[in-house]
Amino acid sequence: MNITLRPDIFWVGYVDWSIRDFHGYDTACGTTYNAYLLRDERTALIDTVKQEHADTLLGNIAAVLGQQTGQSVSGGLDYLVVNHAELDHSGALSEVLRAYPGATVVCDAKCRAALAEHFDTAAWKFQVVKEGDRLCLGRRSLEFYETPMVHWPESMWTCVPEERLLFSMDVFGQHMASGPRFDDEMPREQVFDEAKTYFANILLPYPKAVLMSLDKLRGLEIDAIAPSHGVIWRSGVAEILAAYRDWATGRRAAKVVVLYDTMWESTRAMAEAILDGASQPGVHAVLISMRATSLTRIAAEVHDAAAVAVGCPTLNRGPTPAAAAVLSYLRGLKPSGKAAMAFGSYGWGPGGPETVQEGLAALGWEMAGPPLRAKYRPTADVLAACRAAGRRLAEAAQAKAAGATVFCSGIGY
Ligand code: FEO
Repeated sequence: MNITLRPDIFWVGYVDWSIRDFHGYDTACGTTYNAYLLRDERTALIDTVKQEHADTLLGNIAAVLGQQTGQSVSGGLDYLVVNHAELDHSGALSEVLRAYPGATVVCDAKCRAALAEHFDTAAWKFQVVKEGDRLCLGRRSLEFYETPMVHWPESMWTCVPEERLLFSMDVFGQHMASGPRFDDEMPREQVFDEAKTYFANILLPYPKAVLMSLDKLRGLEIDAIAPSHGVIWRSGVAEILAAYRDWATGRRAAKVVVLYDTMWESTRAMAEAILDGASQPGVHAVLISMRATSLTRIAAEVHDAAAVAVGCPTLNRGPTPAAAAVLSYLRGLKPSGKAAMAFGSYGWGPGGPETVQEGLAALGWEMAGPPLRAKYRPTADVLAACRAAGRRLAEAAQAKAAGATVFCSGIGY
């Protein structure tokens, strides 16, 4: 099914309702691979889809071109713009170029090099563009903005200034399958939560690159943003731009996330006591089992929290596998600026809480002190200390919070 963004500008992508694991990303709501077709005196396709969905893309393109009754478009495709070389968007390039061998691939120099390392591009026609270049299609034109490291080196945005329309590839995207294709046709909380989750898991390691890219939009009048995943922003443009600036500059909510793993409920009891202490008026406190929750969702919850407590018991002189996985994942994403504490139980040797402490400190987080520990079972005094620590985390979260919005209520954890 094709969707019209503007007269003669169509969504021609694929909605992947079934995917639940996108190279490790927990796509609980599926995803979409968005491709867009612009019909003018010359036609241009913006990005493609995963290779296995090439037939759907080609069918959608043919359906649009088949509607053409004018004189200037003869059913062909003139340009194939590649904003991003990652295979969920470039995977069907070969199939599209086989169907439309006259099309010229339009991309930046780094993208051309990346494509050559993924495909046999020897016979492809290229037009390499750079920052600020403009390609006239007829009544409308394409303007290109290089956005390196959001989130690959070759990433690029394409703008149609005459339509105030931005094709932003992964940026502003959401892994979310849906029938509707526009943000105002879906529940606002869900759209922003998925956008936040996407940022937290894909773009968080590159905040400076995100801000540099956002700065390029300052002089542009944009009233719709069409990303490569999820719905198209047409009502929430200003809000998602503001949210991205919050997320990239490190503005955090008055929110405390308590992450725990447990063997015999001791560390869980400590986590619940910390949560109890952190549950203060004006503070959003969330308890999350690291073993029962995906890394994707944990990263999203941690992302906008001003304070985080992480606890696990000692297992084999170290942390539990779930805690080790969370620490490793966070080390890659590099969330910054949190108040933090480590906690957990042990039997006869250290390892769990201490490794958590080291992992959180390595992120540059402000540690509340040494890890809070319980030998085998937390005593009443230990639980009281946990509640007091939770209260201090809540105070730290409120002090750090600068008005960012909490889009996820934590329901379901
Ligand atoms: Fe959706 Fe970076 O690919």
